[in-house]
Amino acid sequence: AGSGETSEAALRHDVRTVGVVGTGTMASGIVEVFARAGYDVVYVGRSQDKLDGVVATITTSLDKAISRGKATEDDKVAVLGRLTGAASREALADVDIVVEAIAEDLAVKLELFGDLDRICKPGAILATTTSSLPISECAKATSRPEDVLGMHFFNPAPVMKLVEVVTTDLTSEAVDETVKALCANVGKVAVSCGDRAGFIVNALLFPYLNDAVKLAEAGAELTVVDAAVKEHLQLPMGPFELLDVVGNDVSLAIQRELHREFGHEGFAPAARLEQVVADGRLGRKSGKGFHHYS
Ligand code: 3HC
Repeated sequence: AGSGETSEAALRHDVRTVGVVGTGTMASGIVEVFARAGYDVVYVGRSQDKLDGVVATITTSLDKAISRGKATEDDKVAVLGRLTGAASREALADVDIVVEAIAEDLAVKLELFGDLDRICKPGAILATTTSSLPISECAKATSRPEDVLGMHFFNPAPVMKLVEVVTTDLTSEAVDETVKALCANVGKVAVSCGDRAGFIVNALLFPYLNDAVKLAEAGAELTVVDAAVKEHLQLPMGPFELLDVVGNDVSLAIQRELHREFGHEGFAPAARLEQVVADGRLGRKSGKGFHHYS
């Protein structure tokens, strides 16, 4: 596309106000990303407690940034002032783009996209941060599939620079280009991905994480595996540390989806991954996962 088309795209999809659906780890991180970049953000959650949780998470993050000299008290007041929490999706009527980060469950997403189609103004971009579910199904749940695409952030969203931008056959070029420009505006690096389970990163990352759990089942010590991987592959975290950051429930859902789509025997979730989730050991967010956290 020529630059003329890009500026036309930017005009057609002028993004000033961002909507986020969800109050979990990814949703909080995404709200923080946009608010720190100067966008007004309307975020929707199911209870006042959950909405308050988003503000608390972002406040902690800003306090950390202040203590490291990377932000000021004025920045904090400005960022928190850009946040509007809402208990009803109807609050998304006037936003220019919605990024949804709710449960990794297709039926739940389809219901949400039907709602967004009804609620959001014409021309609003409807994005999902699903890590493994088909974007095309979300698009088909609306009467405006040209405005739907994937915007896959990584955890922790405020720190990880990559965003996988996932278009379907029906996504308009204007929407694709607008979202890539938006990523750049918030300091992210966008890559284009096809609509297949796991996109690029998770399709490579999760078979490795699953294999690490199988190594543990075979007797390998978690801390030794973590240390070996960090030392040799020069990754910031070992596989069990990373599983605990991502959340073992989320990881299990992704692994199941990869297995369902590609069918390889080796992609079947490791039994111990199923077990830690069944035991409620979801990772850092629940205080224990493969490792324990104080
Ligand atoms: N929110 C906001 N900021 C955070 C943060 C959070 N949750 N966690 C860390 N930070 C910031 C810190 O404030 C610090 O900022 P500064 O450099 O400006 O001072 C910076 O990040 C580094 O943090 P720390 O010094 O506290 O800690 P580390 O240096 O140990 O880094 C890490 C922490 C960035 C999480 C690093 O360990 C890392 O990169 N881990 C790998 C994470 C990863 O691979 N994520 C992708 C998982 S896959 C995925 O998400 C896909 C999805 O579909 C499941």
